[in-house]
Amino acid sequence: MKKVLVTGGAGFIGSNFLHYVLAHRDYGLCNLDALTYAGNLENLRSIEDDERYRFFKADIADAEAVDETLRQAKPDCIVHLAAESHVDRSVQDARPFVTTNLLGTQVLIDAAMRHGVERFVHVSTDEVYGSLGPEGRFSEDSPIQPNSPYSASKAGSDFLVRAAHHTHGFDTRITRCSNNYGPYQFPEKLIPLMVANAMDGEPLPVYGDGQNVRDWIHVEDHCRGILTVLEDGVAGEVYNLGGNAERSNIDVVRRLLELVGKGEELIRFVKDRPGHDQRYAIDGAKVERELGFTPNWTFEDGLAATVQWYRDNAEWTARVRSGAYQGYYEEQYGHLGSQ
Ligand code: NAD
Ligand code: TYD
Repeated sequence: MKKVLVTGGAGFIGSNFLHYVLAHRDYGLCNLDALTYAGNLENLRSIEDDERYRFFKADIADAEAVDETLRQAKPDCIVHLAAESHVDRSVQDARPFVTTNLLGTQVLIDAAMRHGVERFVHVSTDEVYGSLGPEGRFSEDSPIQPNSPYSASKAGSDFLVRAAHHTHGFDTRITRCSNNYGPYQFPEKLIPLMVANAMDGEPLPVYGDGQNVRDWIHVEDHCRGILTVLEDGVAGEVYNLGGNAERSNIDVVRRLLELVGKGEELIRFVKDRPGHDQRYAIDGAKVERELGFTPNWTFEDGLAATVQWYRDNAEWTARVRSGAYQGYYEEQYGHLGSQ
């Protein structure tokens, strides 16, 4: 059985990835996560007693803690998702983005090479390519032109991963994915925030004129894409993953209101995000041609299923919004102490 260590497994994509892999493969899985505000072990409650799964609380920027985790976990492969991930937070304070996304990635690479890890998948973002005008899409050869502190720190981490391959011959692969949506997404991101506000009858804050465009992919498709690159990708390569679903923000918000059953009077156009990227769109031809990956979900079905999930799990959102979920680690793992 292969052993895969996932970093950031208590976050949105990481927890979906752990669920996805346990359902489709017989791999041993370790989850290394610092449990920042975005890390929520409640997302993993249904697998915490699975003997194929083990949790390690550690900060990727803490070399000793990472070393100790790898010593115990002995993974064959690493899928690296841990990151500070929210653009608006990076506008307010970029420092944690540098510490986690840059320093943390290097600490992890160094430890992985020392411990003989065979393969390292770095999960990155299309935001490293910057912003598009009305035409064109990002290919793997597009220039790296990040515009926010978040995307700049991700671009830097991509370069560190690339350098580890080039300099040390370490088997690394990079995925660059478009905007994800689906279950367990922290309600600071557009879709879960708007669903939660609409369900509560609160205003929906749309930045600027709402005409910015994102290319939406269901998180389950992203997880399948990461697994495809882990298993079938080529060392040193970059793979774009997209959803073939470009939508303007205002169109997404209007559709969400319909799905929740609320009216457009809840929409508020608010001050724009500083440096707001206009448009993202992924050209996914390479991963389709070379690894046979295409997304399965249509945006219409994926969005309806996602709204249904948030309706069925209103309690989850309420606990996240109140901060109550942060007591869960102590309740569940307090007896273990910290590493
Ligand atoms: P998230 O914010 O929901 O989760 C991040 C996780 O990383 C949390 O569990 C958090 O506790 C953990 N973490 C943060 N700092 C850490 C540290 N120093 N040490 C250990 N763990 C730490 O993020 P997400 O949306 O699930 O994104 C996961 C990855 O995918 C990120 O690398 C992000 O850049 C990338 N990505 C996200 C999207 C998207 O639409 N959400 C799109 C493309 C790529
Ligand atoms: P977000 O979910 O933060 O993802 P990203 O900035 O990484 O693409 O935002 C998606 C889009 O929605 C982006 O154009 C900004 C916009 N947005 C709003 O209009 N209002 C909001 O409250 C948020 C959080 C985002």
